[in-house]
Amino acid sequence: MYLIAIDLEYRVIIGISGMVILFASFIISFVISQRKKLQYHKDLHVLHDEQQRMLTEQNELLEKGVQQRTAELSKQKEELEKTISHLKLTQAQLVQAEKMASLGQLTAGIAHEIQNPLNFVNNFSEVSTELLDEMEEALKKDHKEEAITIATDLKDNLRKITHHGKRAEGIVKGMLRHTQTSAGKKELIRINALASEYLKITHYGVSLKDKTFTAVIETDFDESIGKIEVVPQDIGSVLLNLFNNAFYAVNEKKRQLNGSFQPTVTLTTRLNKSPATGEGETVAIIVRDNGFGISSKVVNKIFQPFFTTKPAGQGTGLGLSLSYDIIKAHGGELNVETKEGEYSSFEIILPI
Ligand SMILES: Nc1ncnc2c1ncn2[C@@H]1O[C@H](COP(=O)(O)OP(=O)(O)O)[C@@H](O)[C@H]1O
Ligand SMILES: [Mg+2]
Repeated sequence: MYLIAIDLEYRVIIGISGMVILFASFIISFVISQRKKLQYHKDLHVLHDEQQRMLTEQNELLEKGVQQRTAELSKQKEELEKTISHLKLTQAQLVQAEKMASLGQLTAGIAHEIQNPLNFVNNFSEVSTELLDEMEEALKKDHKEEAITIATDLKDNLRKITHHGKRAEGIVKGMLRHTQTSAGKKELIRINALASEYLKITHYGVSLKDKTFTAVIETDFDESIGKIEVVPQDIGSVLLNLFNNAFYAVNEKKRQLNGSFQPTVTLTTRLNKSPATGEGETVAIIVRDNGFGISSKVVNKIFQPFFTTKPAGQGTGLGLSLSYDIIKAHGGELNVETKEGEYSSFEIILPI
């Protein structure tokens, strides 16, 4: 009722003022909001810059890390390569050592074999010189008959000298054959003779190194085995290693028991016939010793390269692994049978 009492003029003024106030407040709030927006964008920009800077920093750090790691890795790789080449060299040296050890033994054995024919040659030469003196005397005295008898004896002596000279030559040839490292060729060989020869040589080599060493050697050859085709020096080195291991085993047992123990090494050969045809199929060469045998814990490791239970300098652990490879290359088998504390028996099977 009071409003109605106000003049129209005032009412217009009041209305306009209200509108102005409303408009002004609208403008103010608009400006404020715009400024806020502006500030927000500014802040965002700063934040973005900051983030960008941090990212760059992190990138640089990462890059440095990667570079460092790469350098470390390539250094490690170099070191590994060095270690590998060193290992390869050591392995080659060990294989050579094993070969040289068996060669040394062979040489000792062969020297012993040569000594015998050489003694004959020397003795017969000396006797022949004396005979020539006697012949000279006889001729001076005109004892023709005597001179002729002496001449016959002389001829006989010279024949013996040639015979023993040839024997020595044969032994040297055999030795040279063994030292040749070129890939061995297969030859038709009397396996009994080869095995028996290597047994003698190894036994001699072992007793040369250890003067107190004695062992009973038993052999049982199957005479029905003829010649078979093998690489003689390869099979020889397998036999050498088996005999060596056997002699070592019995010697160790003897050293530890030093009582009534009788070291014995047995070499047996056998022709295995095919049940179907009755013909010889394979040849078995068995080397058995009554040493300490091999414990069940290690028996499946003995063919691994470098496995040895011998003290440093006495074994390379390569003998059986090389032997295994040689027998495999011949299409054969190398087997072991053992009872701890009692015996070991290695069997080579070769196809005919
Ligand atoms: N006749 C054996 N009696 C007992 N142990 C044996 C015999 N032969 C081989 N071994 C065992 O097998 C191992 C490996 O033999 P081998 O390869 O010939 O290497 P190495 O003779 O250099 O030790 C030997 O160290 C030994 O422990
Ligand atoms: Mg050995």
